Amino acid sequence: MRPVRIALTKGRLEKDTVKLFEKLGYDCEQLHNKGRKLILQIPDANIEVVLAKAADVITYIENGVCDIGVVGKDTIMEYGGSFFEVCDLGFGKCKFALAGKKGADFYAGHSEKTIATKYPNIARRFFNGKGMDIRIVKIEGSVELAPLLSLADAIVDIVETGSTLKENGLEVFEDIAPISARLIVNTASLKMNKEAVENIINQIESVK
Ligand code: PRP
Repeated sequence: MRPVRIALTKGRLEKDTVKLFEKLGYDCEQLHNKGRKLILQIPDANIEVVLAKAADVITYIENGVCDIGVVGKDTIMEYGGSFFEVCDLGFGKCKFALAGKKGADFYAGHSEKTIATKYPNIARRFFNGKGMDIRIVKIEGSVELAPLLSLADAIVDIVETGSTLKENGLEVFEDIAPISARLIVNTASLKMNKEAVENIINQIESVK
């Protein structure tokens, strides 16, 4: 039987996911010493771990090439997709917020506002909910630069500790949504590979 394949978001969520696997008693030697390898084995548990960028985790789960995924709610909210969201893993906690230059009155005036973000769908939905038309500028990293360079009136971005905002003279204007890591599962895997997949989900849920 092919191993159960878990797609794990590289970076921010990686460490906490490995900690979770260790709590389950899995042998995480390959995850600690991965080098440039992208598919890693947890040999004692018949699990294969695929390391991927957040949006790609969703793609692999949706296409059924991975059974279980660990991904942030931010990515789920931005990209959507068809899969089961099984549970909140309780780590990777942060929030989406609207932020900009400290002391600025974002809602003042009638001119169309420009929002810089890595998450255009979330920003669009947030302002649709307020009945506000906005212009979106898509930025790939360090979105905080946009208001500093006067490219945007505000940003919609992830805030974790708040230090990036603080160190750059910015502040939160409004909270948008809480974020944390989620366990997602391919819908077909739950039927085809029911026992093995459910077994892992139950183990994870029991220690999270
Ligand atoms: C995220 C986010 C903020 C920062 C917030 O960026 O976009 O820039 O973290 O964290 P803080 O509130 O703890 O300061 P990330 O580190 O993922 O890198 P990026 O800017 O390349 O997206």
